[in-house]
Amino acid sequence: MNTRNPLDAFNLDKYLRAAGGTRPEAFDWSEPGSRLDDDAIFCLGYMMDIESHTIIYLRELLSTSVAEDASITAFLACWAYEEFFHSMTLKRLLESQGVSIDDERFAKLRQRKPADVFQQRLGAIASRMTRHFPAIHMSWGAINELSTLTGYQALMARANHPLVTTVLSRIIKDERRHFSFYYNQARARLRPRAAQLLTSFALRRFWRLVGSPVRGGSDALRVCAYLFGDRVGAEHLAQVDATIARLPGIEWFNLVSRYSPLRSECCNDRPVGCRAVRGAH
Ligand SMILES: [Fe+2]
Ligand SMILES: [Fe+2]
Repeated sequence: MNTRNPLDAFNLDKYLRAAGGTRPEAFDWSEPGSRLDDDAIFCLGYMMDIESHTIIYLRELLSTSVAEDASITAFLACWAYEEFFHSMTLKRLLESQGVSIDDERFAKLRQRKPADVFQQRLGAIASRMTRHFPAIHMSWGAINELSTLTGYQALMARANHPLVTTVLSRIIKDERRHFSFYYNQARARLRPRAAQLLTSFALRRFWRLVGSPVRGGSDALRVCAYLFGDRVGAEHLAQVDATIARLPGIEWFNLVSRYSPLRSECCNDRPVGCRAVRGAH
């Protein structure tokens, strides 16, 4: 029997030593290359907004019992730092393409009432009712980090743009480490059957594609249509599902693939903006 602690698979000390911001100053912006098309610009803006919203997400997270786990909070401190610089670097990338971003954009985003009821209201309550709440969050984080890095990879391929490739390749390295932390945490914390049932319920009921609660469902679908609108894109989404489905007790996981524009039921369970966008794709 394998008695190895799955949490050992992620070396937290090593991560804490290596963690650092992917700062805009790390890149040479003197060769902006050809102008990206409007869809690529839209995707970069969506991703920048997700990254910048991390600090708000962290605020909500720290109001739950997750804040009592020293190993998780050590990771989260560096994670938020890295995500902040992802947003700054994507902002600089957009500016290199002639898109100006003012701080009002971030302020407005934070003033909007997120559609994500789970994170906003139920998270804090649920965490006081069950010791298995971290299993939900770690699974949630693994899905979102893997979805994010899959999106960055797709954008690199779609844009086929040297500067985008340079910047996103560096960001993806960070996202892989984030994913590894969440995934290993989830694998360990999903051992109890109660944690599996609770996590399955929360994901089925509340999970939406990363960024959708912040930017809205129609924007999320536009991003998916651009990044994953063909057969290859659908396979990439299915790979995300397959990886997450290897976690204990959530073998059923198939939620990311539902965002494939090729699925006939594409819009059946979208929370907002679905019909409008369906008309557009
Ligand atoms: Fe990020
Ligand atoms: Fe990340």
